[in-house]
Amino acid sequence: METKWRSYNPSGNRRVVVTKELPGKRWLEILGKADCRVEICTSTNVLSSDEIKTAIGNCCDAAIGQLTEHWDEDMFSALRAAGGIAYSNYAVGFNNVDVVEATKQRIPVGNTPGVLTETTAQMAVSLTFASARRMGESERFLRAGKYRGWLPTLFLGELLWRKTLGVIGTGRVGEAYARMMVEGHKMDLIYFDLHQNEPLEGYIAAYGTFLASRGIRPVTCNRAKRIEGLLAEADCVSLHTVLDETTRHLINAERLGLMKENAILINTSRGPVIDETALVDHCRKYPNFRVGLDVFEDEPELKPGLVELDNVVIVPHIASATGWTRQGMATLAASNVAALLMGYPVWQKPDISAFLGEDPPKAAPSIVNAKDLDIPIYDNSKDKM
Ligand code: DGY
Repeated sequence: METKWRSYNPSGNRRVVVTKELPGKRWLEILGKADCRVEICTSTNVLSSDEIKTAIGNCCDAAIGQLTEHWDEDMFSALRAAGGIAYSNYAVGFNNVDVVEATKQRIPVGNTPGVLTETTAQMAVSLTFASARRMGESERFLRAGKYRGWLPTLFLGELLWRKTLGVIGTGRVGEAYARMMVEGHKMDLIYFDLHQNEPLEGYIAAYGTFLASRGIRPVTCNRAKRIEGLLAEADCVSLHTVLDETTRHLINAERLGLMKENAILINTSRGPVIDETALVDHCRKYPNFRVGLDVFEDEPELKPGLVELDNVVIVPHIASATGWTRQGMATLAASNVAALLMGYPVWQKPDISAFLGEDPPKAAPSIVNAKDLDIPIYDNSKDKM
């Protein structure tokens, strides 16, 4: 299949390669204003490293890449050799990027945090209830014309109200998910994180006080010392870790074995955090164990047996797929690249909403190796309050 490309602002002096069409127009306007000629791949197939290197050619100032591509030493050498000085992932996660190699090549690496938080947390909530209430399985049953009338025993699922929620990783998404589940369904929270999450603990304590003031039993929040304890106690466990060598196969056969037989396991982080082969075996053995997955170990492939399992709900890595979020990600990726090409400093606050407004700061919203590359930090003391 021939890979197709289109060009935006062909008279621009700086050349930026973007490996997929991104939603909205604003990102193109940002790059246009930075005097960029933008070459966009309009084909939907995942580009190989060779195809991307061919697109980079011998003259390329910057690139915006996808989480499906491997941005390794070879790719950053090619970008550097073509004169490239900036890269942004079109994603908040950057496990597909060798940041150490990019740093060696003196190429800053951007990502797109802050616009995926609620959207991804909502998908984790959706998968939680789709799994608990057997929505995939019952919809297939109905569509297959098998529904013969209401029955007291048809598709009994799990009620999560007042049960125990386990959240592994309480960064932005994990914390948003925890709040949605605790507030909406009065669940007690156990979380596992390398760092104590004081804002989350404080929030749930305050919510508990509010509930008590209304004569309602408060909810609780506890930080687990060990993952094993959380897995054994929780009725529903949701994964929100980054993927690195410490989290690969964090959930393996042994740890699955610690979970309740009717527990629910949700993954919207990265596929390899779960040993998917062990998961298939576990789901076969325990039909009341329910799983909701947005991400897969060998994406886009699924491990043998996964699609046949009725106790697993699967969606194709769409947790961040709302128009607002995907356009926001495009704005942030383009702002990262444009700011680096213009020699601007890097933003320092976790709140990136200023970049989505009318008068964005002259800064790169999020550069993960900014410190290692000594990129100056934006001084926001002069900004309008
Ligand atoms: C990300 O940005 O890392 C998400 O996985 C995209 O959905």
